[in-house]
Amino acid sequence: VSAAIGIIGGTGREGRGLALRWARAGRRVIVGSRDPERARQTADELSQLAGATIEGAVNGEVAASAEVVVLATPFDGLLDALGPMATALAGKLVVSAVVPMRFVDGRPAIDEIAEGSAAEAVAAALPDSRVGAALHTVSARSLSRLDHDLDEDVAVVADDDADREAILQLCSEIGARGVAAGPLSLAHYVECQTAVLASLNKLNRSQAGLRFTGLP
Ligand SMILES: NC(=O)c1ccc[n+]([C@@H]2O[C@H](COP(=O)([O-])OP(=O)(O)OC[C@H]3O[C@@H](n4cnc5c(N)ncnc54)[C@H](OP(=O)(O)O)[C@@H]3O)[C@@H](O)[C@H]2O)c1
Repeated sequence: VSAAIGIIGGTGREGRGLALRWARAGRRVIVGSRDPERARQTADELSQLAGATIEGAVNGEVAASAEVVVLATPFDGLLDALGPMATALAGKLVVSAVVPMRFVDGRPAIDEIAEGSAAEAVAAALPDSRVGAALHTVSARSLSRLDHDLDEDVAVVADDDADREAILQLCSEIGARGVAAGPLSLAHYVECQTAVLASLNKLNRSQAGLRFTGLP
């Protein structure tokens, strides 16, 4: 039986899209929210769309009951939200899809983070969890169009080989190709890919994803 996936911020655009895709792939998915009613409503809506049961719970319960936890919230406020979940997340794989990006004068800008990246700040806040980073370049809009084939790659970073493998599997279940790109210390560069994509998609009025060529 594959591990249950919990999504912190599962009521947001990215979290919803991921939940739909993983549920359709047969995973047990629990969408998390700060608000239990919003979690329940979102879970009901998504279950209808996916044609499969998606559960909803407050973030703390998601952290406790899921085996793999995906972070899909804005970076602002995330570390405070994670503090009370640290014990529940100990020993678990936590995958950050968080991009610390904002638009300044219409241009995407990545915030400077003392730890180097959002994912490394998460790792520092969750010293007993295994933290990886991925999915930053898969747009919520593409995820939510279930008839759309995700013809794109996802750079995956984590320190542990087994954790990278587990995340590659998660990528394949949403219909993308995960590509192992190295340790968590590369997370900043992976998070920055989204700024480039956001800008080029704006210029080209496109929904482009990433493709790495020449891989074996
Ligand atoms: N949108 C995309 O295409 C995309 C693609 C790749 C990566 N991402 C990344 O995914 C993350 C979420 O983006 P999004 O577009 O899905 O944003 P969003 O639609 O605003 O959703 C984020 C969710 O996070 C929760 N949240 C907000 N502030 C929070 C806080 N202080 N503490 C805990 N939870 C909080 C909210 O859930 P509740 O109010 O229910 O708690 C909200 O539904 C961002 O880091 C973004 O960079 C987005």
